[in-house]
Amino acid sequence: MQFNSVVDPKVRGKTACAVVGIYESADLGAAARQLDSQVQGAISRLCAAGDFAAKLGDTLLLVGVAGSPAERILLVGLGARTAFRRKQYRKAVQAAAASLAKTGATDATVHLSQESLPDLDVQTRSRIVAELFCAQAYRIPDLKTPPKPKPSRLTKVQTVLTDARSPKAATAGLAIGEALGNGMAFARDLANLPPNVCTPRYLAARAQGLAKDWPSIHAKIHDEEAIKALKMGAFLAVTQGSEEPPRLIVCEYRGGRKNAPPVVLVGKGITFDSGGISLKDPPAMDEMKFDMSGAATVLGTLRAVAQLKLRLNLVVIVAACENMPSGRAVKPSDIVTTLSGQTVEILNTDAEGRLVLCDALTFCRRFDPATVIDVATLTGACVVALGNHMSGLMSNDEALARELLAAGQRADDRAWHMPIGEEYADQLKSNFADIANVGGREGGACTAAAFLSKFTKDLSWAHLDIAGTAWLSGTQKGSTGRPVPLLLDFLVNRARAK
Ligand code: BES
Ligand code: MN
Ligand code: ZN
Repeated sequence: MQFNSVVDPKVRGKTACAVVGIYESADLGAAARQLDSQVQGAISRLCAAGDFAAKLGDTLLLVGVAGSPAERILLVGLGARTAFRRKQYRKAVQAAAASLAKTGATDATVHLSQESLPDLDVQTRSRIVAELFCAQAYRIPDLKTPPKPKPSRLTKVQTVLTDARSPKAATAGLAIGEALGNGMAFARDLANLPPNVCTPRYLAARAQGLAKDWPSIHAKIHDEEAIKALKMGAFLAVTQGSEEPPRLIVCEYRGGRKNAPPVVLVGKGITFDSGGISLKDPPAMDEMKFDMSGAATVLGTLRAVAQLKLRLNLVVIVAACENMPSGRAVKPSDIVTTLSGQTVEILNTDAEGRLVLCDALTFCRRFDPATVIDVATLTGACVVALGNHMSGLMSNDEALARELLAAGQRADDRAWHMPIGEEYADQLKSNFADIANVGGREGGACTAAAFLSKFTKDLSWAHLDIAGTAWLSGTQKGSTGRPVPLLLDFLVNRARAK
């Protein structure tokens, strides 16, 4: 998909489809009014006749309208004019993208960002167009046999500005939206693939693919021998029951000053979480192929950062393995020594995410990071607490937490601040080791984060629990690509601030 923007206050450009907004009660939006005069009032007559109610997200395609510079006109309902804000704008753009995908149009000119939107700057309006059109074009890498539905023909999308002062902001917004769309598609592909395809070795190969495609990225893959040599005892305990070898994936992107401390993103890469000896119930087990969504999103974010050539240094670390039961698997009550030297009593082998992450978090200290953010489908408790609307955010640094919350808001990919602290850490006490890997049912998302905080002392660190936000279940089953939008917005702002 290609994006560009033009300044065309008179709506005169030739296009396969002009997308214009209409408010309820036959109240034409800015571009619709312009177009209406060129088509001798055809649009206002149609609305007055009650043929288009213009409820938010309604669409109506008009073809071959006399006098129109566009081959097609797509009317998009914007709902009540007084209620038209950010959320409604997103819904309208989304509806336009979905409708256009069902037409034969190969290009389209979207006029929706010309509406009055006090809470949205031009850059964000443009970003949202590119983001949502990319998301609409996304197809699950399915393994279904042919015949397959034809992909949409739409390849070019133009946004229109009336104000000649804003092209720069529009272009920047479209670039961010497109990079975001590509990064999300990359992440969604990885998460949607079945676990017999998307193994730790496959994740490593895709990381190496990124390094090949983007000269600014360097990848280093550590195999099981190397992980043993590093003494990542907790990570090794999780992988030891599996036939599939683990990988520690390290990607470095250098876009900032040579010695500027990097942001480090750490992703949980459990390519299948059976629970291990603490085996999960069968009904929800298939969804545990998504347990590498943290890994997928940090790699997708890295791709977007490279595409945007952001001026900062970024390191992405993925601890990838399976969690399987076997005669060699780790057992409840086993005690292991983590890379940090702290010992952990593994009371529940299904609390494996924190075990691979704690070693990855210790490992990341060698990069002398400015900031560390781990991203993980860590707890079912977080899904109970926040549903699939918001990611859980825990941090030992208030300023960093605020920065991430703000990024989530701007990116329409929100997180909610949740607590960690001594109360929660106390739940992890063990009679036999420094800490246990579980702290009981109560506050499960918080005790998991408190566990990780034992390994991030003196670091500026945040944890995103994306167990609820990374994918949808039911008929909608599939990866959402979240929280790539939040992370990318955070990094875009960091790069700008420095
Ligand atoms: N990958 C799961 C968390 C999860 C559960 C993600 C449901 C998405 C949906 C994680 O490894 C896990 O099993 N966590 C346990 C922790 C418990 C044993 C303390 C959980 O949440 O039940
Ligand atoms: Mn688990
Ligand atoms: Zn898991």
